[in-house]
Amino acid sequence: MSRFDIPANIVEQTRLAHSIFLLTVNAPAIMDSANPGQFCMLEVQDDNSRDPLLRRPLSIYKTGSNGKISFLYKEVGKGTRLLSKRRPGEIIRVLGPLGQGFRLIHDCPSILVGGGLGVASLLLLAQRIKQPHRLIVLIGAKNASEIPTIEDFSRLTRYLHIITEDGSLGQRGVITELLNQTLQKITDMAQIYTCGPWSMMKAVYHMARKRNIPCQVSLEAAMACGTGLCLGCAVPKSNSQGFLHVCQEGPVFDADQVHWG
Ligand SMILES: Cc1cc2nc3c(=O)[nH]c(=O)nc-3n(C[C@H](O)[C@H](O)[C@H](O)COP(=O)(O)OP(=O)(O)OC[C@H]3O[C@@H](n4cnc5c(N)ncnc54)[C@H](O)[C@@H]3O)c2cc1C
Ligand code: FES
Repeated sequence: MSRFDIPANIVEQTRLAHSIFLLTVNAPAIMDSANPGQFCMLEVQDDNSRDPLLRRPLSIYKTGSNGKISFLYKEVGKGTRLLSKRRPGEIIRVLGPLGQGFRLIHDCPSILVGGGLGVASLLLLAQRIKQPHRLIVLIGAKNASEIPTIEDFSRLTRYLHIITEDGSLGQRGVITELLNQTLQKITDMAQIYTCGPWSMMKAVYHMARKRNIPCQVSLEAAMACGTGLCLGCAVPKSNSQGFLHVCQEGPVFDADQVHWG
């Protein structure tokens, strides 16, 4: 699989909510070979500094026309804070596309379950689902400001359901309630794709397993290299059979492969 380490021109850096940003860079080579669920490693510091040395992994949120790719990210620490200071016209090194993305299953309803910024790895997937009339998107967050890109999903499906813990957008409650309501209405075999906090994905997996519905999960792990060299991104396999390396074998796995603890 091709991957590229390129100096990419920043074309947009927009603050969408208090700590959530959309970064768009010009990276035609990466755009051409990007698949849903794959990610890139981004150099966050400006040219004058080597701190932090390590790049930060971000999912490919969307691909646009003219070679553009966008990342939806939350400022949580030093790296993402520095990234948020980068401005259009500056150059940023981007390595990607990396990892194994989602396997698209087309002949059944697709249920996408995103928690908070987990939606960052689901938009490209929603765009590539070949039967949009069988695409169901469920998004949950603490409050409305955590999910500022709902319109990107509402353009793709009539079956978009939102739930927030404080009721500031959509139904009030947690995403597993929404999934439970959805699964009660599904009579065919379906495929679940999910990304979000670990505890949410674990709950989604257990609900899927109870109904024998296959479930793919996109995992996050601390990453130093992003390319399989440092072995720092290991998570335990199910049944104590060693480790999965999230950057190379993932970030997307069949949920059955993961030891959920
Ligand atoms: C494959 C992959 C894809 C990812 N895609 C995205 C994406 O599309 N958008 C996005 O916003 N993030 C994404 N992440 C997470 C992102 O890489 C981290 O948030 C980022 O590296 C943190 O770097 P930092 O230097 O700002 O924070 P650090 O200094 O590394 O950490 C600061 C603090 O934030 C905590 N922290 C770290 N990661 C997270 C997190 N994900 N959520 C909440 N707290 C965290 C740390 O535990 C620490 O307490 C992805 C991670 C992986 C592995
Ligand atoms: S991050 Fe280095 S092996 Fe996965």
